[in-house]
Amino acid sequence: MTFASIAIDQLGRDQAVVELSRLAKELAHHDHCYYHLAAPEISDAMYDALYQRNLAIERRFPDLRRIDSPTHRIGATPSPEFDKVKHRKPMLSLDNAFSIDDIYDFMARVRRFLKISDDTQILCMAEPKIDGLSATLHYQKGQFILGATRGDGQEGENITPNLRTIHDIPLVLQGANVPENLEVRGEVYMSKSDFDAINQVRIAEGESPFANPRNAAAGSLRLLDSSITAKRPLRFFAYGYESLSNQTDQTQADILVSLNRLGFRVSPLVALCPDVDTMFEHYRFIEDKRADLPYEIDGVVFKVNDLALQARLGTVGRSPRHSIAYKFSAEQAETIIDFIDIQVGRTGVLTPVAHLRPVLVGGVTVSRATLHNDDEIRRKDVRVGDAVIVQRAGDVIPQVVGVVKTKRSADSIPFIFPTTCPVCNSAVVQSEGQVARRCSGGFNCMAQAVERLRHFVSRDAFDIDGLGERHLQNFFEWEIVRTPPDLFTLEARNLNINLEAREGWGAKAVTNLFDALNKRRKIGLDRFIYALGIPQVGQVTARILALRLKTLGAVLVASVEDLCALDGIGAVMADEIIQFFAAPDNRVIINELTKHLTVESVVAVTVDSLFSGKTVVFTGSLEKLSRAEAKAQAERLGAHVAASVSKKTDFVVVGADAGKKLAQAKELGLKILTEDEWISMANTR
Ligand code: IVH
Repeated sequence: MTFASIAIDQLGRDQAVVELSRLAKELAHHDHCYYHLAAPEISDAMYDALYQRNLAIERRFPDLRRIDSPTHRIGATPSPEFDKVKHRKPMLSLDNAFSIDDIYDFMARVRRFLKISDDTQILCMAEPKIDGLSATLHYQKGQFILGATRGDGQEGENITPNLRTIHDIPLVLQGANVPENLEVRGEVYMSKSDFDAINQVRIAEGESPFANPRNAAAGSLRLLDSSITAKRPLRFFAYGYESLSNQTDQTQADILVSLNRLGFRVSPLVALCPDVDTMFEHYRFIEDKRADLPYEIDGVVFKVNDLALQARLGTVGRSPRHSIAYKFSAEQAETIIDFIDIQVGRTGVLTPVAHLRPVLVGGVTVSRATLHNDDEIRRKDVRVGDAVIVQRAGDVIPQVVGVVKTKRSADSIPFIFPTTCPVCNSAVVQSEGQVARRCSGGFNCMAQAVERLRHFVSRDAFDIDGLGERHLQNFFEWEIVRTPPDLFTLEARNLNINLEAREGWGAKAVTNLFDALNKRRKIGLDRFIYALGIPQVGQVTARILALRLKTLGAVLVASVEDLCALDGIGAVMADEIIQFFAAPDNRVIINELTKHLTVESVVAVTVDSLFSGKTVVFTGSLEKLSRAEAKAQAERLGAHVAASVSKKTDFVVVGADAGKKLAQAKELGLKILTEDEWISMANTR
C-alpha cells in the first residue's frame, strides 16, 4: 500500500511511517543512479519534490525520522565532542616500499612465509593509494548506522553525522544480496579542484588556506558541526571490508566487485598482477597518470589477491603481511637556506633545522627542512645562504637532498655545530659510536622537559587533551610542572598555584584538565611504557613488553638477555631500555608516578582455543608451514612459542628429522604432535 498521493497534513502517523520508508528507499535509489551510476532516472525537479515531501513529513513527525533518511546529508546539530569507537577489527596501516627491490623482497617474504615456491604464481591486486583519511563504515541490515576515523588503529572517533553528508557513502546498501552486517573500509578525500576552490574562498575571507587536499579533508571530517562538513565536497573510495556475514568473496578482486554492487565507488585503476614485472608496469602506468587524476594519490598498494592466503599471512606489528604500499618517489624543488637553528628533542638529541625561503614542493609550501645531525651537515657541506634541493616524501619531514655548489657565494663559511645546548647551555655530549649529539641537561633543560611532557600526554600515551606545547612551556617556566608525576599532584597543589587565574587558563579549562588527569589514574602497562619516552621504544615495542612481561616490576628488572628473548626486540633496543631504567632521574620519576597511578596489565586479544596460555615448541623441518607462519598461528591461538623443550612445554610439534628436542619431549612425557595434527587442531577451535 502506498500513501504517495495523500497530502502531508492529512497523513496519519502509521501512514507517515510507511511513506517515510518508501521515500527513503526511492531517494536512495535515485541518489545511487545520480552519484554512483551517473545515470539519473528522474529530473532534478522530481527528485527535489520527493526530497521536500520527505522533509515535510519529518517536520510533522520528527520522531519518525529514519536513520537512512537523506535529510541526514545536510548535517546534524553540532556535538561538543566525538565519542570514541572501539574497532571490532583493528584498522592497520601498510608497510612502505620505496623501490622495486623492496617489492621483490616483499614477494620473497610472502613466499617464504607461505612456503610457496617461485614456480607457483601468487596473484596480487594493485590499487592506487588514495591520499586521504581512512574511515570505517558500519552497516546493519543494509543501513549505515555508524562511521569512525582510524584513530590509533584500535579506537577511533565516531564521526557518523559527518560521513552521512558524503554522497559517495550510501545510507542504504544497494542490490539484492545485502549482508546482515558489514564494515566497509575506505578513504575519504577531497578532489584537487574542490580543494583549490575552497582555498580561494578561505583566502578571500581572510582565513588561512589548507596546505593540501588531505589536510582539507581531515579538517572537514573532524568538524563538530556536520552542517559545515556538508558544505565541504568530500568523496569516498571503498577498498575493503571486514566482518561480512555469509561471505562468498574469495579474492580482493571479488571484494571490489561486491563493494561496487553494494553502491560504493571503487577505484577504476586497479589491476591483477601475476608477477613483480607486471606490478612494476602498473606502478609506472599509475605514476604516469598521477598528475592528471582529479585527486591526490601517493603510491600504489599491492595486496595478495587470495583471501585465504591473506588470512594465513596475518599481521606483524600494525601491518598486514599480505600488503605493501609502493610510494612514489619524493618531489623536489630548489630554494635558499636563510638560517640554521638547533632543536632539542625529547631525548636531548640536537637536530639542526634549515629555515628556507618558502617553496612549493608537490603542492605543499615548505619553509623548514631537517638536516638530521652534524655528520650529515658536514657530509653534504650545507651552509647558511646555500641554494639547496629539498624534497618531500609522503608525510615525512622535508629533507635537504643536496647543495647547488655552483651557486655558492665566495664568502660563505662552514656551519659550526654548537658545543652547548642552545636552550639550557648544558654541555653537548656524544656517545661513542653514535652520530647524535645530546644535551646533557635532562629534565633541567626546558626543551627536553617540555618535549617529554608533550609525549607523555600525547594521544597514544596518556591522551590528555588540552595540554599543548605553550601550556607545558608555561608550566615549566612557572615551576609548577617539570616532570610527569608533577601533573598528578597539580590539583592538590592548586590552592597555592591558582591555575585558573593564570594566562591561558580559566576555571572550566582547569576543571577539564583535572578531570582528564584523574580519568587516567588507571592506565594500561603498554601506554605507561610508551609514555615514558624511552628512546627507540614506540607503541609496538611497548605493547610487546607489556604483554610478555606483564607487570611494571618485571619490566624494570628485565636483563638484556630477558629483553632480547622477546620477539621483536633487538640488542640495540634492549640496551636503550636498560640504560633508561638505570638512570637515577628516570627511576625517581617512575617511582613517583606509581604513587599516583594504578598500572594495569594488558591482555592480548586472542581467540579462545585449545592452545590458549599453552607453551608450544616447533622442531624439525616442517613441510607445509614455514616456521614464521607456524609461530604466528600459535600466537594467534593464544599460545607462547618457546625455543627449547622443558617441563613447562605443553606441546611439541615435530617435523622431519627432529633430533634432540623430540628425544627430550619423549623423556619428559610431553604431548607430541605431527605437523598435520597441529594444522588440523589449529584450525578447529
Ligand atoms: S588497504 C592495512 N588500500 O593507506 C590497511 N589502503 O597505511 C589496509 N589507503 O590507512 C589498507 N588507498 O588509509 C588500502 N587502495 C588502498 C588504499 C589504502 C589509501 C590508505 C589507508 C591506510 C593507509 C595505509
